[in-house]
Amino acid sequence: MYKSDFPIFKNNPNLVYLDSAATSQKPQSVIDAIKDYYENYNSNIHRGIYKISEQATDAYEKTRKKIAKFINAKSEKEIIFTRNTTESINLIAKTWGKENVKAEDKILISEMEHHSNILPWQQLSGEQNICLRYINVRDHKLDIQRAEAEINETKPALLAITHVSNSLGTINPVKKLAEIAHKNGGMILIDGAQSVPHMQVDVQSLDADFLAFSGHKMLGPTGIGVLYVKEEILKKMNPFLTGGGMIKSVSRFETEFADHPYKFEAGTPDIAGTIGLSAAIDYMNTIGIERIETHERNLTKYALKKLSGLSEVTILGLPFSEDRAGVISIVVDEIHPHDIAQLLDENNIAVRAGHHCNHILMKDVLKVTATTRISFHIYNDENDIDRFVESLKSIMTKIKR
Ligand SMILES: Cc1ncc(COP(=O)(O)O)c(C=O)c1O
Repeated sequence: MYKSDFPIFKNNPNLVYLDSAATSQKPQSVIDAIKDYYENYNSNIHRGIYKISEQATDAYEKTRKKIAKFINAKSEKEIIFTRNTTESINLIAKTWGKENVKAEDKILISEMEHHSNILPWQQLSGEQNICLRYINVRDHKLDIQRAEAEINETKPALLAITHVSNSLGTINPVKKLAEIAHKNGGMILIDGAQSVPHMQVDVQSLDADFLAFSGHKMLGPTGIGVLYVKEEILKKMNPFLTGGGMIKSVSRFETEFADHPYKFEAGTPDIAGTIGLSAAIDYMNTIGIERIETHERNLTKYALKKLSGLSEVTILGLPFSEDRAGVISIVVDEIHPHDIAQLLDENNIAVRAGHHCNHILMKDVLKVTATTRISFHIYNDENDIDRFVESLKSIMTKIKR
């Protein structure tokens, strides 16, 4: 029903797109908003004393307000624009982490983290002699009891955890984890790359200290990401990159930085990207995030049911439940995921095959080299899943013959 809002499906009428966890498609309104900026008021922000620059500045700052509202931040000053989730997490590791996590302190992450939420902490732990520890994944979910015992015992300075696994679709109890981390004097960073685009994420209700997400996975353009930081923490943070646009005054050997959030946005930002993201949030708000969540939940239930009828297919992740988002990884007996993805592509069905930037989860926990992954957004329907399952069945028959 929403497919017609997305020009890619008009231009590729036969396309079944099941790779929204990698990046989502963009509605016409997002493409139009970017085009409108470039065609009608392209100019740099915050500096120009002329109409179109004021218009661009206004659009940029309105997006900040819109995002704050979308995730229920207390203030738009808590919203920093980055390039993507990866840069948002790196920003925290290289500013707050570097200054606040001391030698012998602990950072706790999990075995289901995307590499973007592992490497910055690995690097920091190497540089500062910090102990990096992992919450185990058992039966495709976090071992919360052991995690709780570990947090109580080791009191990590930071718990950095994904809200939704990009391979398993498991939704982690981040609110409960935030409570445990805070009780023990630590902070929590939530990787919202796979949650913010698909479900209500309320930073105040979760009591998140840091939240990172990407515009391109939530119907917006590539190149724009978001970092939320609680204002009381942000006030004490030093800048990440330095240069133009983030200063109050500069003398030969000293600089007075601008207030947050500008202090963290050095150089010309992705103005068109924020304008596109603003249109994406408008689009999602018009539908309603609850409706998006319900739609994807129904598709997940439908897909799990159909796939569970195939004896050669092993479904990874939890059975259908409240803790299961619209990401489904499968392994097919004796057929490599890359072969499956390639053969599906012959039928115009786009799925992802590989390790999904989850080496630790794949190698150490699931003991597989790769999976075939399907993932949804609002434009998917049951027909997409039917075509995927039918094609998968014919691939299995053909290869086995
Ligand atoms: C859970 C998770 N975290 C982080 C990322 C990195 O996002 P980006 O490449 O937009 O920085 C992804 C991307 O797939 C993801 O799924």
